[in-house]
Amino acid sequence: MRTVDLFSGCGGLSLGFQKQGFDILAAFEWWDAAVKCYEANFSHPVFQIDLSDVSKAVEAIKPFAPDIIIGGPPCQDFSHAGKRIEAGRASLTDSFAEIVSVIRPKCFVMENVDRARNSNAYSSARNIFKNAGYGLTEIVLDASRCGTPQKRKRFICFGMQNQPDGFAQTLFDKRISQKPMTLRDYFGNTLGFEFYYRHPRNYNRRAVFSIDEPAPTMRGVNRPVPKGYPGHPNDACPVNESLHVLSTQERAWIQTFPKDYIWIGSKTDVEQMIGNAVPVNLASFVAETVKLAVEEDSRD
Ligand SMILES: C[S@@+](CC[C@H](N)C(=O)[O-])C[C@H]1O[C@@H](n2cnc3c(N)ncnc32)[C@H](O)[C@@H]1O
Repeated sequence: MRTVDLFSGCGGLSLGFQKQGFDILAAFEWWDAAVKCYEANFSHPVFQIDLSDVSKAVEAIKPFAPDIIIGGPPCQDFSHAGKRIEAGRASLTDSFAEIVSVIRPKCFVMENVDRARNSNAYSSARNIFKNAGYGLTEIVLDASRCGTPQKRKRFICFGMQNQPDGFAQTLFDKRISQKPMTLRDYFGNTLGFEFYYRHPRNYNRRAVFSIDEPAPTMRGVNRPVPKGYPGHPNDACPVNESLHVLSTQERAWIQTFPKDYIWIGSKTDVEQMIGNAVPVNLASFVAETVKLAVEEDSRD
């Protein structure tokens, strides 16, 4: 299927769809660092444009005549990790919906943080999709049940023209694993540590995890153990000087990027791109489900 990726970041979503045979023709992104990183890993073009200018975006996307538009508009304004208010940036969800409604591909996939589902921005985007004639399958997926060793919950809205709402629900449900994937399931014994520190949002939450559980969500920042870390009763082991802290590279692997993925940019930028990304295996899981739904649709 002819595919374009909007708000493409460093390319997690693109790579997962490409792995399932989707023909990615172009990507669109405005952040310089992410554009450079994306370019280094894909052979199709990535265009540096501001997608909030919907008419310019439509002009740039239209020549590719996509069958499917995929994308994860920025989620800072309703992400758990950010401020819990909806500000200007949430309207990029509307921009995504408006672009889809003008280009009218057969399908689209929009990804966001789980709490986006109940946001005003999404309900406005949802109206735009419905008015444009799309049936919607709306689902929150836990990446650890979709081939990724990380408990990361993401909202997926999968739209297809001329379908009833919920059309792909059963397909998703059938494919979701009952068992969450741990780091040991994914990496075997190759990591070289059993426990690691992941800086918590606040000290009411634990910070030490075992490789015999899924990793917590990889966020956009990576901090060493602070001197004053008080410990938490649920830490998987006590904090000591030899406790492992995840490296940038390890965080990318936990996001299921391949080992040869090329990372370009400052450490801060790369950490941010990694935290922003859709895990490649989660993207691939969604892409495979889309493929099955399209096959079903063409048989009807
Ligand atoms: C959640 S990230 C997308 C991650 C990507 N789907 C992946 O899997 O790697 C959102 C992206 O939107 C980009 N972005 C933010 N505002 C934008 C705008 N106005 N136009 C284009 N891209 C924008 C950000 O730079 C960021 O890379």
